[in-house]
Amino acid sequence: MNEASNKSYIKYSWFIMGFVFLVILAGGVVRMTQSGMGCPDWPTCFGMWIPPTDVSQLPVDFESYLSKQDIDHSFNVYHTWIEYINRLLGAILGVFIFIYAIWTSIKFSTRKPKMKILLLFNLGLATSLIIFAILRYSLLAQLSGIAFLLSAFFSLSFAIRYASRRSLVIVSILLLIAVAIQGWLGKVVVDENLSVVKITIHMIGALVIAALPLINISKLIEDKIQVTPFIKHLMSGMIFIVLIQIILGTQVREEIDVISKALSYEQREVWIEKLGSIFIIHRSFSWAVIIGSIALYFKGRDIVEYTKTGKWIATNVIAIVGLGVIMIYLNVPAISQPLHLFLACALLMQLFYGRIRIT
Ligand code: HEM
Repeated sequence: MNEASNKSYIKYSWFIMGFVFLVILAGGVVRMTQSGMGCPDWPTCFGMWIPPTDVSQLPVDFESYLSKQDIDHSFNVYHTWIEYINRLLGAILGVFIFIYAIWTSIKFSTRKPKMKILLLFNLGLATSLIIFAILRYSLLAQLSGIAFLLSAFFSLSFAIRYASRRSLVIVSILLLIAVAIQGWLGKVVVDENLSVVKITIHMIGALVIAALPLINISKLIEDKIQVTPFIKHLMSGMIFIVLIQIILGTQVREEIDVISKALSYEQREVWIEKLGSIFIIHRSFSWAVIIGSIALYFKGRDIVEYTKTGKWIATNVIAIVGLGVIMIYLNVPAISQPLHLFLACALLMQLFYGRIRIT
């Protein structure tokens, strides 16, 4: 199958990657507006599927929900709805990824009719599971649940066994598993009132979800770029360095969370000075990213197809470091926090995609 016949599939893979970034940005806005605990429970919000817009719509036991919140302790409609929209985007991403996995399994199957029947059978079981659960027929719901799990397992094995492009199907299934784990982690983060270590794992999960569609895209795009071994190794090294820098940054963010919460999210001018050694390490480690990106740019200047990649990577590094400097000297403007995070994730994806496209 050539690249042209996969055009829509490639476009949809890009769309999934873009949507992950939308979810990352929405998460940043949640934090920027301190809406993290706007919905104190999960998956419902104040025990409802569509959260209240007014204090009069709160459930009778609303005090038990509000006591879980870290700053509000009273109903704040903006915090609640910002967090709710963030969750909604996450759920929509899950649906898009589900469609992606089904599309990949059928598109790259050598037994298309059988694959379609299997998928319909699974959908039937999943629907009965949902209906029995809603009607509270617990035994029937449990039986449908077990039947669904067995059938889903069989279907996935079938999809992999009879795939014309096995690696693409495996990647799409991994994507589905990753988004399910990520959703579950979202619940754990809420249950433990945004416990810090889990935020880092949640961050890494988001990066994995964004990177997986890129693997499929690169496998379907035929024009691989020829570069020198030096650039190839430097790209791999940079992925590793930026990943470490992102983890360090997340630790800094966790410290900022503790400091800002203790100050009721005020006195931004003292947040940076209260940071510990992890901030100094994060700041200094930027030199490795800066030097690496300069080297990538200069070494790749003569390779026509690669010049653009090198330029964009260098531009992004300048923007990320610029935002870091702005945070230090302009008392951590709220908007700079999600932007710094967004661009850091984009940098990692630029490097990752750049690396898997070169030979
Ligand atoms: C290219 C290098 C850099 C990368 C890839 C990077 C990445 C990150 C990431 C991923 C975070 C976590 C953000 C979050 O979870 O919301 C972060 C936080 C942070 N970084 Fe960087 N960073 C870089 C350079 C810098 C520099 C040079 C500075 C300062 C001079 C800086 C200052 C900060 C600060 C203050 C935070 C905490 C911000 C917050 O509360 O959201 N970073 N960084």
